[in-house]
Amino acid sequence: MFDRRIAVVGTGYVGLTTGACLASLGHRVVCADVDEKKVERLRSGEIGIQEEGLAELVSEGVAAGRLSFVVSAAAALVELEREGAPVEVMFLCVPTPMGVGGIADLAAVEAVIEEVRDALPAGVVVVNKSTVPVGTTDRTAELLERDDVVVVSNPEFLREGSAVQDFLNPDRIVVGSSSQDAAERVAALYARLGAPMVLTDAASSEMIKYAANCFLAMKLSYVNAIAELCERLDADVVDVTEGIGYDKRIGQAFLSPGPGWGGSCLPKDTHALLQVADSADFEFRLLRATIDTNTRQYQRMVDKIRTAVTGRRKGSLTHKRLALFGLTFKAGTDDLRDSPALGVAALLKQAGANLVGYDPGISRAASAIDHTLLTVLDDPYLAATDAEAIVILTEWPEFRALDWPRLASVINTPLVIDTRNLLDPDVPRRAKFAWIGVGRRATDTGGGASP
Ligand code: UGA
Repeated sequence: MFDRRIAVVGTGYVGLTTGACLASLGHRVVCADVDEKKVERLRSGEIGIQEEGLAELVSEGVAAGRLSFVVSAAAALVELEREGAPVEVMFLCVPTPMGVGGIADLAAVEAVIEEVRDALPAGVVVVNKSTVPVGTTDRTAELLERDDVVVVSNPEFLREGSAVQDFLNPDRIVVGSSSQDAAERVAALYARLGAPMVLTDAASSEMIKYAANCFLAMKLSYVNAIAELCERLDADVVDVTEGIGYDKRIGQAFLSPGPGWGGSCLPKDTHALLQVADSADFEFRLLRATIDTNTRQYQRMVDKIRTAVTGRRKGSLTHKRLALFGLTFKAGTDDLRDSPALGVAALLKQAGANLVGYDPGISRAASAIDHTLLTVLDDPYLAATDAEAIVILTEWPEFRALDWPRLASVINTPLVIDTRNLLDPDVPRRAKFAWIGVGRRATDTGGGASP
């Protein structure tokens, strides 16, 4: 028999991962989405997103009769009811995109509440997993107008690309509610994972999500600033981050400098918390500086590329052909949302460069990239042909295995600007490439690039 009977509304990477993982823990899960075509594809086993291990979990769940897909939240409730027992927990995993002024747009959450208000059985717990401004869980309860249903906050901490791994091996589970009983029922869903549990009120739970993502963004902006300073002082950021990372209070993770941080979460959540702070009449200077440092980072990368390609700080990039390696916001995903690579590309384009892009996760045919910005090619050697430089913008490990002598034979100028410090500099250098990293000593002779 199943442990709990759960509806998950929204089948993006958070909803689908949540549904498939909860099913793998023994619960009966019905996942709902408004997109009929998507539901059809999910039913036929096509998951449509790159998440390691997710396709397998989905097919195992479906085969075991623990996981199914329906169109609309209301239909999920009907499906469970039809099986003989009503839904016990309903997760909201719908998008909360950046709305006017940086605040999260809650239209999707509100639409689901409207849809299920009268259909929810008494005693059900509604769980908000979407990242929402502090106070939204309580507001959702007000919108629902049901005294017999509790709304609980239970934020997700899933990284795109490793969402399944993060779900099944969580650092912590956070549940926020004024109802101890409801919070414990939600926490119990994850009991088998053996993670530390933080049970708190809804506002603190919502705050934990923003505070975590904004802290991560701040860590990265800090490390990008330290990398810039290292360049000016002829120090090496790889050694510096290793040296500070051994301090357990700092930790080694999230210390790699790059072209800036991006994706569908960190940019949205930093802007949203800034907006939340503004409306609470708090001037969050540290967070504003975190965002500004990141925006400046794109321009800093362009300046670095300009100097390397033209040999002058103010040299012209007009008609210079540049091969951009890596277009997604990070490796292991096909997600281009708020990608720093595309931010840098836009500035290079403005400076007059001709851009050709290659990304192991993006195919030329399927790419949604604006072709006036850059031409996407499926072959790195074609992309590098006649270019003045290769610019590595995403940390795909595949780039380490490229045939550098072959790239040297097709490129116009053997120059690689590695904004992720991905390569062991000796590898391109052996093929007569000049290699330029971020935050590295000018005199650096290679030997040990950052991971
Ligand atoms: C982020 C958080 O890491 C998750 O914990 C959170 O659950 C998720 O947002 C969310 O709110 O849903 P994600 O957006 O998948 O996850 O991306 P990250 O892996 O955090 O990377 C964010 C950006 O930082 C990327 O552009 C990445 O390339 C960059 N980064 C990361 C660096 O430049 N250096 C690093 O050392 C690490």
